Amino acid sequence: MEIKEINHRYSELAESECCLSCGGAIHYAEPVAGEVCVDLGSGRGTDVLRMAASVGETGFVYGIDISDGMLEKARRNAEKFGISNVSFIRCELEKLELADNTANLVISNCTLNHATNKQAVWNEIYRILKKGGRFVISDIYATKAIADEYRNDPVAVAECWAGSVTRDEYMQQLEKAGFTSVEIIEESAPYAKGNAEVASFTIAGKKDACGCGN
Ligand SMILES: C[S@@+](CC[C@H](N)C(=O)[O-])C[C@H]1O[C@@H](n2cnc3c(N)ncnc32)[C@H](O)[C@@H]1O
Repeated sequence: MEIKEINHRYSELAESECCLSCGGAIHYAEPVAGEVCVDLGSGRGTDVLRMAASVGETGFVYGIDISDGMLEKARRNAEKFGISNVSFIRCELEKLELADNTANLVISNCTLNHATNKQAVWNEIYRILKKGGRFVISDIYATKAIADEYRNDPVAVAECWAGSVTRDEYMQQLEKAGFTSVEIIEESAPYAKGNAEVASFTIAGKKDACGCGN
């Protein structure tokens, strides 16, 4: 899905109350004082602000998003609650504007399925994590390859399922990026979307201490 379309669709949703998540990454992430955290597809900034409270003044949280409306809403929320240990960055998931070995923790909720180059996103997550750093990510996968009729339908992709890959592809991409020990924390039963079938899951993993996974 084109960035222009993502920006347009999510900017429209920024002021709505609708739920945009598909799992509980934030509930399993357990950020602690002093940590640097990143939320990929931070939307209205809710999870960033929660993590900012956990990491405290000695920690810092970055929210990454491409939607101007979402970024504006997230920055307003941070200001409203007087939270200053956060920064919201406009960039693509495939090209994170963060230095190597920045983060102790990367989280994401219902966002990676939108990325056109998911391998690049996983490579970026590996790059920005510190050695020994971890990720906790909630996302959607397809039980079998999504048909082209949906894959090329911008509305279905924007609905967070038509851009999804199979569970096997997902795991292969993680492994290729360098992550070796990956744990599935929660997983839904498959459910129908059009003629396709998808499921949501939350996965966690670590960059090994030598950072030599890829
Ligand atoms: C379904 S919403 C989830 C928002 C938030 N994580 C939540 O759970 O409420 C997906 C978010 O990812 C952002 N997004 C989608 N594709 C992106 C991309 N390629 N690069 C950066 N952000 C992207 C959208 O703008 C949107 O804010």
